[in-house]
Amino acid sequence: MAKRIDVKDLDIFYGDFKAVEGVSMTVEPRSVTAFIGPSGCGKSTVLRTLNRMHEVIPGGRVDGKVLLDDQDLYARTMDPVDVRRTVGMVFQRPNPFPTMSIKDNVAAGLKLNGVKNKKRLDEVVEKSLKGANLWNEVKDRLDKPGAGLSGGQQQRLCIARAIAVEPQVLLMDEPCSALDPISTLAIEDLINELKSQFTIVIVTHNMQQAARVSDQTAFFNLKATGQPGRLVEVGDTQKIFSNPDEQATEDYISGRFG
Ligand SMILES: Nc1ncnc2c1ncn2[C@@H]1O[C@H](COP(=O)(O)OP(=O)(O)OP(=O)(O)O)[C@@H](O)[C@H]1O
Ligand SMILES: [Mg+2]
Repeated sequence: MAKRIDVKDLDIFYGDFKAVEGVSMTVEPRSVTAFIGPSGCGKSTVLRTLNRMHEVIPGGRVDGKVLLDDQDLYARTMDPVDVRRTVGMVFQRPNPFPTMSIKDNVAAGLKLNGVKNKKRLDEVVEKSLKGANLWNEVKDRLDKPGAGLSGGQQQRLCIARAIAVEPQVLLMDEPCSALDPISTLAIEDLINELKSQFTIVIVTHNMQQAARVSDQTAFFNLKATGQPGRLVEVGDTQKIFSNPDEQATEDYISGRFG
């Protein structure tokens, strides 16, 4: 089910502003790739092109290719809604639908897809909450609002919501930045489990986190404000953190800038 992502010569624009230039990389199925780099270098921008969320922003467009296995996500025949179903996303701030119950939060995507069978919905809700390591904490209050959960629980609820529709790729933009260390570890454990089923790309500012959770690390940088961000180096996480090819990578991971 999990798919390979191939990015080829990707340039990304906001109107006339070229925010990111010349990105090419491959993400293997059932692996975790971390995007690291200083603020403004384009990590979120690149992430959003992987499920066509970038074009939702006025003026947002891309040049180049993003392939999912061998399917071109930007082919004219591709439906962006289908793409977003296949490539799910979890955001920096947990964003459950506040008035919806925990159960309905998880089932929301399925209902949109037309699933009405109550038994089927209950099964998926349970499976997804178990998959997100949240089931035991919420199984007795599935009908209570999602907004009543702690920040870490809400983030796991959002992960449950994302995996309920069985995507093949999961994108996460700084999913732990609003969380305490214990919740952060819970999410990291979860990412480790999820990678047996999903292809995962995570943006993080936390170097230890990148080193802990990812198989591959991509370091992005920009020369100066107003210049496009670039992918400086991508490779095996252990190598990037111990013996990178580029001086800029070394400087960044050792905390000399950024
Ligand atoms: N909606 C937008 N409209 C115009 N420009 C944008 C928009 N979003 C981001 N940008 C610009 O694109 C560039 C890359 O931004 P992006 O948010 O991708 O960086 P980032 O690496 O995710 O940074 P951070 O670590 O702070 O989240 C920046 O110059 C930013 O100002
Ligand atoms: Mg960002």
